[in-house]
Amino acid sequence: MEGVSLNIYDLGKRYEEKTIINNLSITINFNSKITLVTGMNGSGKSTLAKMIAGIILPDKGALKLSNHTNFSKWTKRNTYYLSSAERGMFYKLNCRQNIEYLTSLKGTSRKYVLDKLPAYGKKLNCTDILEMSAEKLSTGQKKKVFILSALCINCQLLLLDEPTNGLDDESFYAFIEILASLRLEKKIVLISHDKRFLDMPDIERIIFEKNGEIYWGGC
Ligand SMILES: Nc1ncnc2c1ncn2[C@@H]1O[C@H](COP(=O)(O)OP(=O)(O)O)[C@@H](O)[C@H]1O
Ligand SMILES: [Mg+2]
Repeated sequence: MEGVSLNIYDLGKRYEEKTIINNLSITINFNSKITLVTGMNGSGKSTLAKMIAGIILPDKGALKLSNHTNFSKWTKRNTYYLSSAERGMFYKLNCRQNIEYLTSLKGTSRKYVLDKLPAYGKKLNCTDILEMSAEKLSTGQKKKVFILSALCINCQLLLLDEPTNGLDDESFYAFIEILASLRLEKKIVLISHDKRFLDMPDIERIIFEKNGEIYWGGC
């Protein structure tokens, strides 16, 4: 996907009478740099991510991939959006089974997941929770289950919305190391107000202020 770009033209989104995204035009390059979307609470970051993932539709404007004619078809197949909100888990199943379930929703094979999972689990220091039932997890441990699911999904574009809320420093830096190697395989867009990301090398930033207006973008 090197050399490919996602071009967002004049995007607009309102909820009832409230304008959330207003005439937003940006380009996200599918290079090996991670794209960080940051900015104030309520500035429209998650709304933008959901429009990129095809979960919600813009009221106006367009999203186009430079090498593909039908973006909405492409994104449904190739993008995974990890929501910042807690999603449904089966509390009686263990974490590994929950991860197998969550990844299967996006069509990733069990074999692919089970090949990737042990190394990511070890890196995030949570091998012990994989066989634990989900109802026994702490908030941070639940977050790790969702992160592991996202990391094990076979996709080309990974949108991670506030993935580090609830992670301690040790897990945060282990997660960064995983992303630093994963960015060579797939495009990663991080949506986060976590200031710890600002020290990361190889990152392109998109900063939002209110109404989806960018006031600074670049490396
Ligand atoms: N489904 C919805 N219905 C109405 N308003 C919404 C909905 N989703 C988000 N909003 C509003 O849109 C604004 C932007 O939300 P969001 O994109 O989640 O911001 P951010 O992720 O930057 O914190 C907020 O004011 C929020 O209340
Ligand atoms: Mg958000």
